[in-house]
Amino acid sequence: MPDTLITNIGELVYFSPSGEKLIREKNCALYVVDGLIRSFGSQDEVLSNVSGNPKEIDARGCLVTPSFVDCHTHLVFAGKRAYEFRRRIEGESYLEIAERGGGILSTVRSTREASEEQLVEIARRRLDGMLRCGTSVVEAKSGYGLTTEDELKMLSATEKAGRDHPIEIIPTFLGAHAIPQEYKEDREGYVDLICDEMLPAVKEQGIAKYCDVFCDKGAFTVNEMERIFTRAKELGFELRAHLNEFENLDGVRVACELGAVSVDHLTKSDRDDAEAIKDADCVAVLLPGTTFFLGESEYADYRMFKGEGSRVAVASDFNPGSSMCYCLQSVAIICAVYLGMTPEEILRAMTIEPAYSLGMADEFLWREGVPARVNIYDVETLEELIYPWGVNHVRGVVVGDGYFS
Ligand code: NIG
Ligand code: FE
Repeated sequence: MPDTLITNIGELVYFSPSGEKLIREKNCALYVVDGLIRSFGSQDEVLSNVSGNPKEIDARGCLVTPSFVDCHTHLVFAGKRAYEFRRRIEGESYLEIAERGGGILSTVRSTREASEEQLVEIARRRLDGMLRCGTSVVEAKSGYGLTTEDELKMLSATEKAGRDHPIEIIPTFLGAHAIPQEYKEDREGYVDLICDEMLPAVKEQGIAKYCDVFCDKGAFTVNEMERIFTRAKELGFELRAHLNEFENLDGVRVACELGAVSVDHLTKSDRDDAEAIKDADCVAVLLPGTTFFLGESEYADYRMFKGEGSRVAVASDFNPGSSMCYCLQSVAIICAVYLGMTPEEILRAMTIEPAYSLGMADEFLWREGVPARVNIYDVETLEELIYPWGVNHVRGVVVGDGYFS
């Protein structure tokens, strides 16, 4: 594979070596050798170090940044819920639909019916779309199987979908996404199944790094989350949690005490939560695309988390019910309009902060030798990236020694 040289970069945006500052530089180039960044910065300097005959990509005066990291997705599922979205438009709420057998359990039915090969195929197509939108690292949760066999099938499909794909996938076990129909009258029995059978089976196959629990009204209680997380920790999983999307059950403190690396949603969170997140060196992952798609008016309070000094990431929560969108540029405009985030804050929340929650922040602190994950846009500045909305501004993505456009 030839090396890659991006020339005529109008604005290059990257993080300072400590990750604290965002640096914006004009008239730059970036040189990739063997899939790793070799040098970047002033075009004259970079060009003076080029040897051999790299493939040149002319950025034509446009913006270049690190590519996006989506640290909360439900990548793998079968079936569609467009008819449910219609019911929501017509007035039913997300929780009402779920209580009437729709919602997560409707996707569970279609995902159980799908073969592993079908799930791989569906997920590959979504990954291709995500890459076109500039995302190069994706966390992917199970949670639409809810039997040991179907959860393993989802995780295996996740692994296969990621094989030889430019996107790096980080798998998460989410057996505690909903109580399946067959355990409706026996919640404890389902939590037992997760702890005694599913978690050990997932561990044995080594196909998930994280364990997640949907702890909220209509889902799992704080006590149930605590049981599942305690068992998951014993087995060596790291923890992520869905919390406070619909109601604050006071689970953030508990998840932080158990060492969760990320707590996600946080729409109903308060200052105590923000403080607990900060003290635990956990990452607050906000999912404003979900609030938007659910048509709700109350968004997670970005400024409150920032004010407490917590790390804040933003992810897509791509899923068929509450957030049917994996394009982080679409989420970015929601961050700007409803969360009042600046372009710098948005880029940070979609690159280095989610990477931190996935234990990969180091790879987003650019220096010689880090893997190339670079977006080239068709706009000239960071401000322009978050301005015309509803269009994909990514012209191409360099991942390792490949260029995808
Ligand atoms: O993040 N929170 C849990 N799950 C999703 C909804 C999934 C679905 O509706 O299928 C969420 O909102
Ligand atoms: Fe989710």
